[in-house]
Amino acid sequence: MAKDRERIFLSPPHMGGQELEYVRKAFESNFIAPLGPMVDGLEKRLAEVTGFPHVLALNAGTAAMHLALHRLGIGPGDRVLASSLTFIGSVSSVTHRGAECHFVDAEAASWCMDPDALEEAIIACRKGGQEPAAVIPTDLYGQSCDLERIGGICRREGIPLICDSAESLGAGWGEGHAGSGADHAILSFNGNKIITSSGGGALLSRDHAFIEFCRFLSTQARDAAPHYQHTHVGYNFRMSNIVAAVGMGQLEVLEERVRQRRAIYDGYRERLGDLPGFGFMPRDVYGRSNCWLTVVTIDEEAFGASPETVRLALEELNIESRPVWKPMHMQPVYAGAPMTGGAVGEDLFRRGLCLPSGTALGEDDLDQICECIRRTGR
Ligand SMILES: Cc1ncc(COP(=O)(O)O)c(C=O)c1O
Repeated sequence: MAKDRERIFLSPPHMGGQELEYVRKAFESNFIAPLGPMVDGLEKRLAEVTGFPHVLALNAGTAAMHLALHRLGIGPGDRVLASSLTFIGSVSSVTHRGAECHFVDAEAASWCMDPDALEEAIIACRKGGQEPAAVIPTDLYGQSCDLERIGGICRREGIPLICDSAESLGAGWGEGHAGSGADHAILSFNGNKIITSSGGGALLSRDHAFIEFCRFLSTQARDAAPHYQHTHVGYNFRMSNIVAAVGMGQLEVLEERVRQRRAIYDGYRERLGDLPGFGFMPRDVYGRSNCWLTVVTIDEEAFGASPETVRLALEELNIESRPVWKPMHMQPVYAGAPMTGGAVGEDLFRRGLCLPSGTALGEDDLDQICECIRRTGR
């Protein structure tokens, strides 16, 4: 019966209302192309929102990471230190560049990269005769990593730092925006993110020349000549003007979406916080989380059901939930990759469950989801 009603997705798109108006304006301008006033406007707004002075709008967050690694000259023989507890889009470009990942475990306090493990990984890398080429920590599920310590380590050791803020647009770190303590950062506007452009991403940097070279690379690296001439091999990674128009509309409601996601986290906490064996991802450890997803941990013995049993019970009601990201060092494709630590990420993968967190979720939906979870336990 429940299967008949509309599915509750984990994190569906939620339009604010002005997106079509921006798309209409994009059509009127006839910039139906991977450039135009909406792309320029989006870059300007993102600079204002994030505090990064230089922004490049692209067709994916993955593309942003790829360009950053290319610009840093990372390639075969290089080693990049990256969060293990993350989505593969954070590190796939390291592999595409022909470099190797050395994964770093999460800390229990924030679920993001453990700065102590990072220090250990740098030492291990150097012992093996390799200088780390970059560090990529992920701001997990909208929570900023410890950029004060990680940034301090990278500056001291002279290692470029690219913060993967794909999930944390609108979140805070210290007094600034998520990622703002890093040299460079990436964002994603994928359909499941806190705001979406229907797919897209951005590269953020404090370095003008860095962004300008990536801009050049992102549009097939055309040299300044009337004919087609190339001294570099580039990519077709630029954002479309129509996609940017959707993003412009969505940016208008970003603050509201952060408030709503945080309220959803509070709503789950109020309804489920007393359950034995139930825990919540820590929040606001180094800044203000955007609570992109509400993530819980379930201790099977104390609660009386495993995270997978809960997931299947929700599925019976046509409600989507998902396990926490499977750490990269546990992925078959990265079997044998160097790793520092691992127990924290493995434990969070075993006990974690991401609950529906879309901002259109009503109180009734929350009640239903939480009643189902309560019933599933003892
Ligand atoms: C942590 C993380 N990194 C990178 C990405 C890649 O972004 P995109 O899907 O826009 O390529 C995502 C999301 O999809 C992500 O969650």
